[in-house]
Amino acid sequence: MGLFGGPSASGVLANAKPGQLAGYTALVTGANSGTGFATAEALARAGARVILAGRRLDAIDAAVAEIGDKLAESQLAESKLAVGSVEALAGAKLDLNDLASVREYAAAYVASGAELQLLVLNAGVMLQPWGRTPQGFDTTMGVNHLGHFLLLKKLDKTLRESPTSGGTSKRVVFLSSMAHAAGKAPPAVAGSDGKLDFATWFTPTAGEFSIMESYGNSKLANLLCAKELARRYAAEVHTDCAAKFMRIPPAACGFLK
Ligand SMILES: NC(=O)c1ccc[n+]([C@@H]2O[C@H](COP(=O)([O-])OP(=O)(O)OC[C@H]3O[C@@H](n4cnc5c(N)ncnc54)[C@H](OP(=O)(O)O)[C@@H]3O)[C@@H](O)[C@H]2O)c1
Repeated sequence: MGLFGGPSASGVLANAKPGQLAGYTALVTGANSGTGFATAEALARAGARVILAGRRLDAIDAAVAEIGDKLAESQLAESKLAVGSVEALAGAKLDLNDLASVREYAAAYVASGAELQLLVLNAGVMLQPWGRTPQGFDTTMGVNHLGHFLLLKKLDKTLRESPTSGGTSKRVVFLSSMAHAAGKAPPAVAGSDGKLDFATWFTPTAGEFSIMESYGNSKLANLLCAKELARRYAAEVHTDCAAKFMRIPPAACGFLK
């Protein structure tokens, strides 16, 4: 059982059926460690072609090799049951802290001709001190939300145009957190009829900054983004949100149940 009474991560991932995701291409951000690594492995075991993305090419290559070895071993052990594959886009670095890097990575992804049915926006930073991205945004918000949001925008066409088969929908997964509750909604702009002032989210001054609030805001942004995406594109792309399924580990939502 998991922390909140639901199935544990290993319990959900263990339900993956070999071949279940055959014909699907998944992109997982921050896939060299933690949840991203486990998600990439689980998706490949279920038959997907998984593309691992991250900011350190050596770490991503090492993760590709490690998961590849595990898949090869299990293929032998399981009499060559259909498993998927893992790879990285050669030489393409995804640094979510830098929107220029996100643009470059997305362009490389599109140029590679890879399909995209499963997009796992997993990478994240926590407990970062006050700091700015190259474009001037709060570091935590920049990595956890803005970089991912731009990646999603840039891959939107590929995601929509990639074919599906067998009645399985395309998915976007946002890794939020219980810590979204520590976020604070941006204040309304006075006299604007509902407009919000995002300065406290995107460009807090050192005096306004709080480490937990910054992380909470970024995870709240993940949630709201997922909710809005689901509202706009419900018919085309299924969007799962970690916080909606707090009892199920974020990365497992939607793919493997
Ligand atoms: N662990 C938890 O208890 C927990 C709970 C709730 C939600 N979450 C969420 O789950 C997600 C994964 O967490 P985790 O615990 O697996 O974390 P983790 O083990 O620290 O892994 C984070 C991943 O994000 C990558 N990353 C960090 N900054 C990046 C950047 N600028 N550009 C691209 N990639 C970057 C890291 O790459 P490097 O190795 O290069 O740093 C790493 O691959 C996060 O979004 C987190 O907020 C985690």
